[in-house]
Amino acid sequence: MTALTIEDKDIQSLTGKIVVLTGGSSGIGLATTKLLLKLGALVISGDINPPPVEHDRLSFIKSNVTQWSDLVALFDHAKERHGRIDHALANAGVSGRADYLEDKFDESGKLLEPNHETLDVNLRAVINTAYLGLHHFRHQEPAGGSIVLTASASSIQRFRIADYTTAKHGVLGFMRGMVPNLERSSVPLRINALAPGWTETGMVPKGVIEAAGQATQSPDVVARSVALLMADETYQGKLIYSNEGKYWEIEDAMLKTVVDIMGANDDAVMDKVMKMAAQNGPSGGSLPGSSN
Ligand SMILES: NC(=O)c1ccc[n+]([C@@H]2O[C@H](COP(=O)([O-])OP(=O)(O)OC[C@H]3O[C@@H](n4cnc5c(N)ncnc54)[C@H](O)[C@@H]3O)[C@@H](O)[C@H]2O)c1
Repeated sequence: MTALTIEDKDIQSLTGKIVVLTGGSSGIGLATTKLLLKLGALVISGDINPPPVEHDRLSFIKSNVTQWSDLVALFDHAKERHGRIDHALANAGVSGRADYLEDKFDESGKLLEPNHETLDVNLRAVINTAYLGLHHFRHQEPAGGSIVLTASASSIQRFRIADYTTAKHGVLGFMRGMVPNLERSSVPLRINALAPGWTETGMVPKGVIEAAGQATQSPDVVARSVALLMADETYQGKLIYSNEGKYWEIEDAMLKTVVDIMGANDDAVMDKVMKMAAQNGPSGGSLPGSSN
């Protein structure tokens, strides 16, 4: 793990940048919005609720991130108003909704499907937001753009809110899956994520956490990690963990542990595997050597 400090000079380059973000009306998204505005960026925020602040460089578009058409409209607004988008932050989130050890039945006594709202907001909509950002960036040669995903400390832990933890592992998985693809792009495309520990927000009220004896941090701390991930153009596939006001980059160390045990993922082998699987037909291609 690499401890980080984030100085003002590290994030000054965001002046004049166009940033689309979701969940900007409260907590980490609101703190990020305020920091970006202070740095001179232009912010286009999509949220189900209006923001509690107004600014001539802030546009709010009422958006439910689980609605594809709302997300399309959010990015279209940014593009039409500013002509380009430099960064997108997929941040809107909710806490857990499902209890996978609870029985709930319909009127005929059949077991009901679990509540997937948290997976919809915290994973499916995050991927959709990133996908839209990448779509716009790919057509912005030569500048490209960068995606920042709000993951969580629960992306790498046994956190007992299982649907939330599943979604946050998925967010980290999406970043890991995308990095090798973005590195091949002729347009500069970056993707990074933040992993906040307990942070005082609408989702995590300060009093509740403190009553449980747990230290928290201000969302202003987390906002600086978002800004760094956007501003530092050398960052690709990084995960910044923040806790009690301190920062660490943790992805490189985690991947190094895996590589030490399993060896590096050989891109040339992957190319061959995918080519052969594709030749095996439209069924999706059974991988060579597998029986399914
Ligand atoms: N607070 C923490 O301790 C903590 C820790 C790790 C990660 N996170 C993550 O940070 C992100 C922001 O959460 P927060 O803690 O600031 O909570 P918050 O409740 O203060 O903010 C969440 C924002 O998302 C918006 N939102 C929720 N559902 C939406 C939808 N369907 N469409 C559009 N907007 C929607 C809300 O209106 C709100 O403005 C989430 O992804 C959360 O999982 C929070």
